[in-house]
Amino acid sequence: MIRERAYPVEPWHVRETRLDLEVLAQAESVFALGNGHIGLRGNLDEGEPHGIPGTYLNSFYELRPLPYAEAGYGFPESGQTVVNVTNGKPIRLLVDDEPFDVRYGELVSHTRVLDFRAGTLDRQLEWKTPAGRRVRVHSTRLVSFTQRAVAAIRYEVEAVDEPLRLIVQSELVANEALPAQSKDPRVAAVLTKPLEIEERLFDDTRAQLIARTKRSGLRLGAAMGHEIDGPAKTDVSTESHGDWARTTIACVLQPGEKLTMVKLLSYGWSSRRSLPAIRDQVSGALAAAKFSGWEGLCREQREYLDKFWDAADVRVEGDQEVQQAVRFGLFHVLQAGARAELRPIAAKGLTGPGYDGHVFWDTEMFALPVLTYTLPKAVASALRWRHATLDLARDRAQQLGLRGAAFPWRTIRGQECSAYWPAGTAAFHINADIADAVRRYVAATGDDDFERDIGLEILVETARLWRSLGHHDRHGRFHIDGVTGPDEYTAIKDDNVYTNLMAQRNLIAAADAVNRHTERAWRLGVDDEETAAWRGAAAAMHLPYDDELGVHPQVEGFTRYQEWDFPGTPTEHYPLLLNYPYFDLYRKQVIKQADLVLAMHWRGDAFTDEQKARNFAYYERRTVRDSSLSACTQAVIAAEVGHLELAHDYLGEAALMDLHDIHDNTREGLHIAALAGAWLALVAGFGGMRDHDGELSFAPRLPGRINRLEFSLMWHGHRLRVDVRSNEVTYSLRNGAEDARVGLRHHGEDVVVTCAEDVTMPIPLLRSPGSQPRQPAGRAPVRRLPAPPETPNQA
Ligand code: BGC
Repeated sequence: MIRERAYPVEPWHVRETRLDLEVLAQAESVFALGNGHIGLRGNLDEGEPHGIPGTYLNSFYELRPLPYAEAGYGFPESGQTVVNVTNGKPIRLLVDDEPFDVRYGELVSHTRVLDFRAGTLDRQLEWKTPAGRRVRVHSTRLVSFTQRAVAAIRYEVEAVDEPLRLIVQSELVANEALPAQSKDPRVAAVLTKPLEIEERLFDDTRAQLIARTKRSGLRLGAAMGHEIDGPAKTDVSTESHGDWARTTIACVLQPGEKLTMVKLLSYGWSSRRSLPAIRDQVSGALAAAKFSGWEGLCREQREYLDKFWDAADVRVEGDQEVQQAVRFGLFHVLQAGARAELRPIAAKGLTGPGYDGHVFWDTEMFALPVLTYTLPKAVASALRWRHATLDLARDRAQQLGLRGAAFPWRTIRGQECSAYWPAGTAAFHINADIADAVRRYVAATGDDDFERDIGLEILVETARLWRSLGHHDRHGRFHIDGVTGPDEYTAIKDDNVYTNLMAQRNLIAAADAVNRHTERAWRLGVDDEETAAWRGAAAAMHLPYDDELGVHPQVEGFTRYQEWDFPGTPTEHYPLLLNYPYFDLYRKQVIKQADLVLAMHWRGDAFTDEQKARNFAYYERRTVRDSSLSACTQAVIAAEVGHLELAHDYLGEAALMDLHDIHDNTREGLHIAALAGAWLALVAGFGGMRDHDGELSFAPRLPGRINRLEFSLMWHGHRLRVDVRSNEVTYSLRNGAEDARVGLRHHGEDVVVTCAEDVTMPIPLLRSPGSQPRQPAGRAPVRRLPAPPETPNQA
């Protein structure tokens, strides 16, 4: 685990002031750079030591066998695993005779800084060789937001107090050895050397490798070019053999003299394009990067980020650690999705090999709600990707004997890759989650063309799925049986409230969209009878309710299950899934992650205030948060029901998930849903923002330690700013046309905001929320303690 406050609290940076090899892999995830297309883990320039070497291209995967002890009908046969592609990061350095390696000699100083506004990872160090020679290295790395195929590294070496003979070796390396990821020898064999080199090209300062995967048949091109500034006598040469290419620079530096190298990298891949086409694509991207030059790339990067932060920044006064963490989270959500362009946004983004690089519902229910209001075009593109996989989802539905489309629980390319039915395809709610992301995006942007051309078909096919998966009982009530909701400790059950409510909204949204796009709907084969059936199912949707306890069982019968023995469960037995059989988890009242509580967030319109308060208290006592997706939702509902300090605690847990490595697995990649969840906890929690039925509403209320919260939302092309203080809130509109108006609700009251006039509203007094909810023994979130001393912003 990363010790608490491993990184000083600064508003716009994550700074590491000392290299700790114990947590190298975690830091590689924290310091990962990406743009949604390329992802570079924060590996040290010299490649070694490393935790997990990682260079990823969105959707570049290899197929691997899915081993089953006992196979069954409909089990996916093949898995997909993200490939660690050709690594362009390595820059090795030889000082006199000594290879620079932080494990040898003396590392006098070592600092790394991830800068959210510059979009760079900066590294400065001073190293004394075992022979006592001193050298300073300053490297800066970026993955460009403006040129999606491009990354660049500026590497500068300085001789400190005596002349030094230097060799810099800048490399492209395919098939790097990786730490073992799977105990299954068949899986390991496939991933040991996933790339077959097809072509090597090089001249004095450039090189290019083209490679192909054996099974998935994807072709990848990686190119590097160098611009070098050093002493008059500096030798440069490039060579390539086997799996690598290398540019070597040799020179002698006098004390105070520097050698500077800018390494430009470009990447491209395709399942269809020919070798010459990929060759041209990557050398073209390299030429564009060269044309911009290092300064140009940095300038474009900053301009892109200035624009992003102008629209997306969240300001938190009173908890600087959360301030830093929410920006860190937003920065990584942006890096995961900014330039994904018709590719998925994976659960770990492109920061590590965790979950095999798969995309889950995390995207639609955690990342996309944030991007809908901060970078809507990234949402359109992520949903276009889902749309592009509809044929596969239709095939899957057919295989399962269902109508419409069944999207995969986890995948890279679109095929179902989950080998475990109860926490895989049975989590049918992903279909309603995707539909809801469509609905939310259209409501927030008014993008009619998208709804007609893309959204409608997703809504229609998912509605068809629900209609065929569920059934009307003899009393006419509609049930969805045998499914798994968000809580993976309660599987294959009837009438999961979250699933039913989300399916209900899906069915209505589909019928409404059909009304708006009749001609296109007709071409999809929808008729009045079908939409009437959808509306009928939605109207008759069954929601279990326990009258005696006055709470909603999260699935039929849940509240009569045996209670879990929390006092008898030692702390080291969490996460429970690693220490108890699933059959036992499934039949007891123990909850991995917010499920009914999540329903109260996204379908809050279906519950009364009293129900919300009672349900929240009931599920708090049984939720263990073995998933990183839980804390943010608990923050949102804790805030809504008035437990503001508890909401603050949960906000802290979501926001610090990776900076504090709370789940002890940040090394495998970041938890993008939890990081997005920090924004949700602030905006939907303390801002009380909801978007039911395409209407914006707010119910802001701050906890004791946060005295001001400011955030902006994109709404139909306008930027709505919400500035919350402890007793009042100001809504203002920016960048709208003169006559722009946004109607919203503030604590239940209608408000209209125009560009001409800000509106300030009082925050009604909080009625006592009742007794403090309790969590299972040992599972209460860490309390937000008084603020740590702030480190001055050194930008
Ligand atoms: C959670 C899922 C989530 C997945 C990927 C699991 O532990 O239970 O809800 O989709 O992780 O983040």
